Amino acid sequence: MNEEQLIAAARAAALRAYAPYSRFSVGCAILSVDGEVVTGANMENACYRLGVCAEISALTAAQAKFGLDKVARIAVAGGDGSGAELTGEITVTPCGGCRQAILEAAQLSGRDVEVICASGDGTLVQHHCIADLIPHGFGPANLADAG
Ligand code: THU
Repeated sequence: MNEEQLIAAARAAALRAYAPYSRFSVGCAILSVDGEVVTGANMENACYRLGVCAEISALTAAQAKFGLDKVARIAVAGGDGSGAELTGEITVTPCGGCRQAILEAAQLSGRDVEVICASGDGTLVQHHCIADLIPHGFGPANLADAG
């Protein structure tokens, strides 16, 4: 699956978001090193703080399907998912908590993970890697001195 298709998968996944409170639908598609793909969307809750981001939802699916250590590329897109297609003109970059979760996957494999951030309509795309999004992050490698 190429980059364009991965973004399309993230945009399609956003249409399955459950986001009645923010009305901001986010989709995430994750490609494994072996070419497998999983997706996820944000899922909010009446108890607002229990909402789950699209990236966490997709990472959970990635762990179930092929393992976090196989995560290669991640595409994220967000915007208005109330119509037939996701719309919106601002690129979505993962929130701080999601960066931390992506860092976990990256440190497990020792590979930098590519994070492709798209606008809801898919026309704007920013390329990042997790090392840039969370520099000097704390991950499994930092636990090496635990007793
Ligand atoms: N959201 C995500 O799913 N991923 C992010 O990286 C940023 C924010 C969701 C959480 C909430 O349901 C909605 O977007 C508005 O913050």
